[in-house]
Amino acid sequence: MADLFSSYTLKDITLRNRIAVPPMCQYMAEDGIANDLHLAHYTSLARGGSGLVIVEATGVAPEGRITPGCLGLWNDAQAEKLREIASAIKQAGAVPGIQIAHAGRKASANKPWEGDDHMAADDPRAWQPIAPSAIAFGGDLPRVPTAMSIADIQRVQQDFVHAAQRALAAGFEWLEIHFAHGYLGQSFTSAHSNHRQDQYGGTVENRSRFTIETLDAIRQVWPERLPLTARFGVIEYDGNDEQTLSESIALVNTWRTHGLDMLSVSVGFTIPETNIPWGPAFLAPVAQRVRQQAQIPVSSAWGFGAPTLADNAIRHQQLDIAMIGRAHLENPYWTYFAAKALGKDQAAWVLPAPYAHWLARYHSPTED
Ligand code: NDP
Ligand code: FNR
Repeated sequence: MADLFSSYTLKDITLRNRIAVPPMCQYMAEDGIANDLHLAHYTSLARGGSGLVIVEATGVAPEGRITPGCLGLWNDAQAEKLREIASAIKQAGAVPGIQIAHAGRKASANKPWEGDDHMAADDPRAWQPIAPSAIAFGGDLPRVPTAMSIADIQRVQQDFVHAAQRALAAGFEWLEIHFAHGYLGQSFTSAHSNHRQDQYGGTVENRSRFTIETLDAIRQVWPERLPLTARFGVIEYDGNDEQTLSESIALVNTWRTHGLDMLSVSVGFTIPETNIPWGPAFLAPVAQRVRQQAQIPVSSAWGFGAPTLADNAIRHQQLDIAMIGRAHLENPYWTYFAAKALGKDQAAWVLPAPYAHWLARYHSPTED
């Protein structure tokens, strides 16, 4: 029976354990370009022992960033620093992944600690967001986006393709398409945010078209040997949950037949008015249902930060990989401490050799 510390193989890639760091925006970039703070951040996460480190939501186009501090991957200067980051993650023994994203109507926001709301229209750093329809998210994000023309749709799909090509050239071995969290892909799929009357709106099939076409185009350039995954909010907790979940599972099933290798199961966050049942591992049964009914490997985050919860989710075949987010911000060595907590002999083996040797040789310095 697989547990949290079993290795995991997807396509030609093997993770040393079932622990992943999910994408987490740092909002520290300038002009979409990563810097040494990003390099140190991702290197430390990989040295901590997880099997997979997925670099934060990285905009495929300037207007696809959430904030002016978000990473981008629409030019070679951005790819260059990401190459260093991918290499450092790999040297530390983790698989380097990246999430490519377009923020849609949630774009042009202030950094979370500077308001988390839309930048004022007259802020020189602000830009006009685009989305399937001219409908604002609401709440702190009131800006009405511009409805995308067919040419806009085709241009953004090509931006995703070019970002995937740059990610590959930069050395990433695991690609996640961000179709979640109320950003562009998610908002095409949802009737809350997509009121189009052309072939990209209306019926479920039409609302699914943007993501299916984007996936197809990316799969053409992302090698078969490497995992292509997506993050998607399969449920909104808006009171229409059974319908949303069954439509989501049907869509994930279609993505699988179009070459998707794994789904990162998440919440839609398409509208502010929801009733999310926050709690430890609350998405685990939802993820398991997607895994069983769409017949696709799954990962998920949200409250798996207690090692036994993550381990149980793997043992009970709810998840193939456990994503540990905020707990990794608190402690980049989460994997090492999880191994100790779960009673793994030689827990230090997850660390780089110079650490592992000294920590395995003597009694634990944290238990003196
Ligand atoms: P918010 O961060 O504004 O959160 C929406 C609501 O959910 C708020 O009421 C908030 O509570 C609550 N909430 C969010 N996360 C948690 C949690 N872990 N535990 C308990 N309550 C929570 O929503 P957004 O739409 O901006 O982001 C959606 C989610 O995605 C958030 O959880 C956020 O952390 C995450 N995220 C995703 C990013 C991405 O995909 N690129 C970037 C940054 C964040 P309260 O008002 O009390 O805080
Ligand atoms: C996030 N999250 C997130 N999700 C995503 O798909 N792309 C992203 O870039 C981000 N950025 C981000 C930044 C920060 C600071 C936080 C805290 C979260 C959501 C994240 O990947 C994860 O799903 C949540 O943090 C829940 O998992 P934990 O923290 O409960 O393990």
